[in-house]
Amino acid sequence: MGGIVMALGLDVPLSGVLVAVVPVLGVCVMLIVRKLRPMFRTMQTRLDTVNRVLREQITGNRVIRAFVRDEYEQGRFRTSNTELTDVALRTGNLLALMFPVVMTVVNLSSIAVVWFGAHRIDSGGMQIGDLTAFLAYLMQIVMSVMMATFMFMMVPRAEVCAERIQEVLGTSSSVVPPVAPVTELRRHGRLEIRGAGFRYPGAEEPVLRSVDLVARPGEVTAVIGSTGSGKSTLLGLVPRLFDATGGEVLVDDVPVADLDPALLARTVGLVPQKPYLFAGTVASNLRYGNPDATDDELWHALEVAQGRDFVERLEGGLNAPVSQGGTNVSGGQRQRLAIARTLVQRPEIYLFDDSFSALDYATDAALRAALGRETSEATVVIVAQRVATIRDADRIVVLDEGRVVGTGRHHELMADNETYREIVLSQLTEAEAA
Ligand SMILES: Nc1ncnc2c1ncn2[C@@H]1O[C@H](COP(=O)(O)OP(=O)(O)OP(=O)(O)O)[C@@H](O)[C@H]1O
Ligand SMILES: [Mg+2]
Repeated sequence: MGGIVMALGLDVPLSGVLVAVVPVLGVCVMLIVRKLRPMFRTMQTRLDTVNRVLREQITGNRVIRAFVRDEYEQGRFRTSNTELTDVALRTGNLLALMFPVVMTVVNLSSIAVVWFGAHRIDSGGMQIGDLTAFLAYLMQIVMSVMMATFMFMMVPRAEVCAERIQEVLGTSSSVVPPVAPVTELRRHGRLEIRGAGFRYPGAEEPVLRSVDLVARPGEVTAVIGSTGSGKSTLLGLVPRLFDATGGEVLVDDVPVADLDPALLARTVGLVPQKPYLFAGTVASNLRYGNPDATDDELWHALEVAQGRDFVERLEGGLNAPVSQGGTNVSGGQRQRLAIARTLVQRPEIYLFDDSFSALDYATDAALRAALGRETSEATVVIVAQRVATIRDADRIVVLDEGRVVGTGRHHELMADNETYREIVLSQLTEAEAA
């Protein structure tokens, strides 16, 4: 072929080979990379799905066994795993193609150089040394292009990963810390909720509509309402787990949104409906809100929370291990530890979200009596389903579908509030309720 080229007078300069090789390599790599990018995106999403399914299955292990859904779950894992394997294989195949393509272009270019060079040497227009040197240079350049190619191989995946990390980092918190926070409070613990409304992001209906509530120090304010009426949501507004979408939440006449977050956390002690304990010991969990508490303070809090007996029986007492989430203690024990944890913190405002639900009646009564003595100066808000838990409260707020439908003491509400009467009579007889 070289002979023909020479005969035709097409004396290709060797640098021409170089000029041709680099764009050809570039185009090949770009084509492959363009196909790879969407595949990597799919692969990351499917990897997510496999992780989610696996996580769910490990956490929900007992439910799966109780419902004998092993086969169904195996199928679910198989499906998501096959989908991942599928796209991973296709991506792998394309990636595997990259190397041979690059090598083919490189080797073809060497052949071309040797071919054209040989004819020039033959005709005396070039020295052998020049050709060898040219080949060495060509290899160096092509090798660099190859290195760049391998970099490019990683670019699509890195790009997709970076986008996803950016998504997480770019999500701003809906609860914004105040610019000029109030760092001093009178610290009496007066809580006032004024016309508060709340709608969960993406939800159509608001969960709370124009809720008013005042809780004063030294008083017990109770909130009662059917499931889903918005009780937990209402309590969540106070420590700013989320901000009200309307109205105001005031602690000692300062809007919580203007309070220093650390001060707010010290002032408000929430015992969540689903208490969570951290891996560690009983003591490390109790000291969560007050790291300087002494052992005596811990025992005292446990006594009030009716948890002293069972902690004493645990091996190690205060140093007994607690597993992640508190899964090695019973539901009622977990609730009592969560109550004790908040007592150790000594806030001005206590919020108990259905915190006595897992306790038997006797323990519930003993706990409330002890709690009454312990928190006689503090502001206490109790959310409960059980009428017995709240009937002695200084003020009962009846919540129905996110609205306050009544406020008063037990006998007042029994007399004139239909919703309250219904709730009470579903649990007690007319005589018991009187
Ligand atoms: N994270 C959430 N996203 C969207 N909607 C939610 C969310 N949490 C709760 N809801 C909705 O808000 C409503 C009120 O929920 P909330 O937990 O405040 O009720 P509750 O009165 O505490 O009920 P329960 O007595 O069962 O604890 C429910 O109808 C529920 O559908
Ligand atoms: Mg709730």
